[in-house]
Amino acid sequence: MKLIFLGPPGAGKGTLAVQAKDLLGIPHISTGVIFRDAIAAKSPLGLEVKAIIDAGKLVEDETTIALVKERLAQADAQKGYILDGFPRTIAQAEALETVSTVDKVVNFDIPDSGVIERLSGRRVCRKCGYNFHTVFNKPKKEGTCDFCGGEIYVREDDKPSAVAKRLDVYRAQTQPLIDFYRKKGLLVDIDASHLVDETIVSFRKALGI
Ligand code: AP5
Ligand code: MG
Repeated sequence: MKLIFLGPPGAGKGTLAVQAKDLLGIPHISTGVIFRDAIAAKSPLGLEVKAIIDAGKLVEDETTIALVKERLAQADAQKGYILDGFPRTIAQAEALETVSTVDKVVNFDIPDSGVIERLSGRRVCRKCGYNFHTVFNKPKKEGTCDFCGGEIYVREDDKPSAVAKRLDVYRAQTQPLIDFYRKKGLLVDIDASHLVDETIVSFRKALGI
């Protein structure tokens, strides 16, 4: 199954994708994770995108499209994938159509108040990337990842000024994709404002799995 997870920052795309990839046996491809790994490795890509991401802006379409095309060409993506955080612009959606068909686009519906609550409490493992939350998903030991023992930190783009920018960017550049995919008959809406276990149930129901 070839899926796109679409929704505002902090809607829970990454959290649900981690469960859905096991359920469906397909890879979870997050452009945000690819960029953050590149930043941590201080690779040329990481150096190119760090300031853009920290400020909550979008990386250039050309750079993002090239890396997704390369990732989708790999063997594990041939049987299906979850694309989390891509496409984010109409140009990216059109570029995707040139290399792959898509079965469904899952639209994570959540009000801004929910987004802000989730992003302000998010804590991320520096080593394995797992997303914790200060209220909804606390690590057993403060500051330490339950799974790999890595250090837990606050993403630079989860600081309030970057969150406001990300929401503006989402409305201006990504939200138009809802209509783009609805018109193609690919969109399924899920109410993403409930707890993770309930959201997974809505997801399975929406996809009939
Ligand atoms: P990216 O990493 O994709 O960030 P994002 O879209 O802003 O989404 P987030 O990762 O912030 O949120 P999420 O929906 O995954 O929520 P999560 O599951 O973590 O992109 C980062 C940056 O990279 C972009 O700003 C841009 O600069 C660049 N970039 C990436 N893709 C690009 C592209 N295609 N083009 C150009 N630039 C691109 O959950 C959030 C928190 O809530 C967590 O703490 C979690 O524990 C908690 N939580 C999750 N679900 C629930 C729930 N159901 N109930 C309670 N708490 C929950
Ligand atoms: Mg994410």
